[in-house]
Amino acid sequence: MSEILKIKDLPSPKGQFILGHLNDFKADNKHQVLEDWVKECGELFKIHFVGKEFIVSANHDMNNQILKLRPEKFRRFYKLNEIMEEMGIVGVFNTEGEDWKRHRKPSSEALNLRKVNGFYPIIANKTEILLEKWKSLALKNQCINVQQELMKYTVDITTTIAFGYNLDTINDKSDSLQQHLERIFPMINERITAPIPIWRFYKRNKDKELESSLKTIEALVLEFIQKAKDRLTTNPALRENPSNFLEALLVEKENASHFSDKEIYGNVFTILLAGEDTTSNSISWVLYYLAQHPEMVNKIREEAIATFDNNSIPQNHQDLKKLKYTNAVIQETLRLKPVTPNLYMQANEELIINNFLIPKDTTIMLQNKVAHTQEKHFYKPNTFLPERWLASNKCPISANHSPEVIKTFGAGSRFCPGKNLAMHEMLTAISSICKEFDFTLGVHKNDVTEKFSFTMFPENLLIKFSSISSK
Ligand code: HEM
Repeated sequence: MSEILKIKDLPSPKGQFILGHLNDFKADNKHQVLEDWVKECGELFKIHFVGKEFIVSANHDMNNQILKLRPEKFRRFYKLNEIMEEMGIVGVFNTEGEDWKRHRKPSSEALNLRKVNGFYPIIANKTEILLEKWKSLALKNQCINVQQELMKYTVDITTTIAFGYNLDTINDKSDSLQQHLERIFPMINERITAPIPIWRFYKRNKDKELESSLKTIEALVLEFIQKAKDRLTTNPALRENPSNFLEALLVEKENASHFSDKEIYGNVFTILLAGEDTTSNSISWVLYYLAQHPEMVNKIREEAIATFDNNSIPQNHQDLKKLKYTNAVIQETLRLKPVTPNLYMQANEELIINNFLIPKDTTIMLQNKVAHTQEKHFYKPNTFLPERWLASNKCPISANHSPEVIKTFGAGSRFCPGKNLAMHEMLTAISSICKEFDFTLGVHKNDVTEKFSFTMFPENLLIKFSSISSK
């Protein structure tokens, strides 16, 4: 047996004497900094921030094992829970061990395919509102900042699905809930990556504003919880077909172990946090590729016409299953532009994986995106080829086709429970947009860059749309 590899044996990229790699890591494209280091040091290496060591692994097999060894052997990086708990948010994303199991079951049941199918009318309604808005912008010949616009779309869908709160941020109708949410999400990101927790010693204005926003949202959600409980009592039929995640969670809670209102609040908040940017940024990346491939837009349009005919959007969730080519375009985007390119894990105990000794409490940055573009896993790995997701086994495009290495939705027992919902939103948005519009990039493709803030998004993605029905 070959000798066991230890942390001290690992290579490390060039860093600064005391700070180590801290300065490089302040960049807003830290996932790319990590990718560059993979090129320099290989698939397994170490970095340090002022002496605190971290392991980086871009080895698919090791990363897969780590994700699948949860919740017993690995947990999420401790800082995520520390920051969220401090903000009063305790839900399925940031709990661990037995506590996590208690949160996971009702949350994933409340997002199962049957429930998500029942939420389709909400997605349909918001998609129609989005199309109307974009048609009016197209008439004015304006480029659309797609990433910002789609954020409004998923905010409106997610708040309605989460607890029945019907926002209209798509049409820029400002609402205090939205203003509070906008304040909270960047602060979570800022605090997770802050080297010193200044707010614990001195409260700056933004920390005071954050506290006030958190209090307002908590009070609002607790009020919604009470109303949902009343509705379920007066209308027991809702138990079979809950109209939103909160109602579904309350029904599931009765079958699960005790869940306080505070924990229900934590999970509703988690859905808002986990479901918005991830989905809107993924749709944005799909449009980034489609804007460079009008022939693919045409194919999606043909499929949309064959599926929902004269209507502007898919008519029901069954229509979505027929959108095979649209789905292939989405899968290809999730491979090349995963909005979650890395996941940070921590070892609960000392263990050996692939001959590497991982001491208890070691933090490992799983750099999952790297495997998505390796030749051994995909034919022409850096080319946008949706057909690879449709090809038969005999087709050359199917050579080296390893969908199992794609970790955009994670893996193992903590796999993203919102995938069905995200796919419903993406299929509906993409097929409807391609049916209605021709579009091209409003900037050079190299001027659209990857940025990382909790999720990886396209910065400067400006697209020019022209509406087919208004021609
Ligand atoms: C394209 C869109 C999305 C992507 C790429 C995505 C990706 C991810 C990833 C990578 C994880 C971590 C998985 C792991 O640790 O193995 C995760 C967890 C999670 N996601 Fe998603 N997600 C998306 C949409 C959604 C939506 C729409 C919801 C709900 C409305 C959602 C709810 C959650 C929750 C609750 C967790 C925590 C699961 C746990 O810790 O057990 N996600 N997601």
